[in-house]
Amino acid sequence: MRQFAKSLALFEEARRLIPGGSQTINKRPNPAVLGQTPIYVERAKGCRVWDVDGNEFIDYVQALGPITLGYGDPTVDAAVREQLDKGMLSGLLYPLEVEVAREVVDAVPCAEMVRFFKSGAEATSAAARIARALTGREKIVHWGYHGWHDNWTVERNDGGVPKALASCLLSFRYNDLDSLRAAFDAHPNDIAAVIMVATQTTPPATGFLQGVRQLCDARGALLIFDEIVTGFRLARGGAQEFFGVTPDLACFAKGIANGMPLAAVVGKREVMQIMERLIISTTYGGEALSLAAARVCLQLYRNPEVFKHLWTMGERLMAGINAAAQAHGVPARCVGFAPMSLIEFHGDTPAETDHLWNTFLRETAQRGVLFRRGGLAFITLAHAAEDIEQTVAVCDEVFANM
Ligand SMILES: Cc1ncc(COP(=O)(O)O)c(C=O)c1O
Repeated sequence: MRQFAKSLALFEEARRLIPGGSQTINKRPNPAVLGQTPIYVERAKGCRVWDVDGNEFIDYVQALGPITLGYGDPTVDAAVREQLDKGMLSGLLYPLEVEVAREVVDAVPCAEMVRFFKSGAEATSAAARIARALTGREKIVHWGYHGWHDNWTVERNDGGVPKALASCLLSFRYNDLDSLRAAFDAHPNDIAAVIMVATQTTPPATGFLQGVRQLCDARGALLIFDEIVTGFRLARGGAQEFFGVTPDLACFAKGIANGMPLAAVVGKREVMQIMERLIISTTYGGEALSLAAARVCLQLYRNPEVFKHLWTMGERLMAGINAAAQAHGVPARCVGFAPMSLIEFHGDTPAETDHLWNTFLRETAQRGVLFRRGGLAFITLAHAAEDIEQTVAVCDEVFANM
């Protein structure tokens, strides 16, 4: 039996010291499996993590998506170490800013200019500011999660967000052009931009993304793709390359530096140039360790084998899990896109679905595999065929017992 006693003790202390117990909401242990799955990591390498209790796991959480090459990729680590000797931050600019911007422009279809940040929310908020400044309009229509900043969380507003912002954010439904058209019709000449994730797990219906692009053009609004999950994952150039629809602006973070904290807003020159006169500035945007990591990541992403591998391994994982679920009559499906798929459980009631999840997470963790409840399963270059086989065998055994 794997034990998680050290993790539990640490988390008990964390709850006294850190509101919520963690910095990232989605990394908090679910109360239903508290003490039955790992919480704290000792080290991570390749596709594996070792927790503080000494247990080893094949990991599909992958830091919630930033890890494309695998944890502790030797090339990335060497680049960070080399840069560390030269310094991480200075009052002068590092040439790395230019070098990484050059690589991003080469990789991403809409990118002619690039600005760097530290988090995805910063990048999406910058994109919103750019769109509002350029169009002189205030409303943004969105689909998806774009980070914790006020201009996005105003929709749910669980406290602390000025209600005055609510009129600035509208939403539309995925694969429903009419819902977007209705937003434009209700607010003609007021919508600065549409920001959306190009896909989560449902593929865009034929013509949907193209239709969004056309509507934006017809109504004088910018199209922003939030590529924070899809970027450097579905393809080197992100969802916009994969689906062949080019936005005016795009936001990247997770995949850009294999776990180092770097984000970017990128876009067409005539759009991005307005940043010259806006106060969009951060002390750490040009931090050199992350840029050094990004430079080698982007060079490695030039090799199409990287993305081919994510797709091939992801397809094997999805097929294996789906076959095992079917064979044992478990109401589970692995859906979505192979480099970032999603396991779904479909119980007859929400309580039953929860129970299926709890059992699955507890039993796969006992057998050395980590997934996240309701979260995408991320494949990296470090997931080898044997890791996928081992994972599928574990799922098969767990489903058989379920
Ligand atoms: C699609 C999307 N956009 C934006 C964000 C916010 O990024 P960050 O947490 O780095 O601020 C996330 C985070 O998960 C995300 O998934």
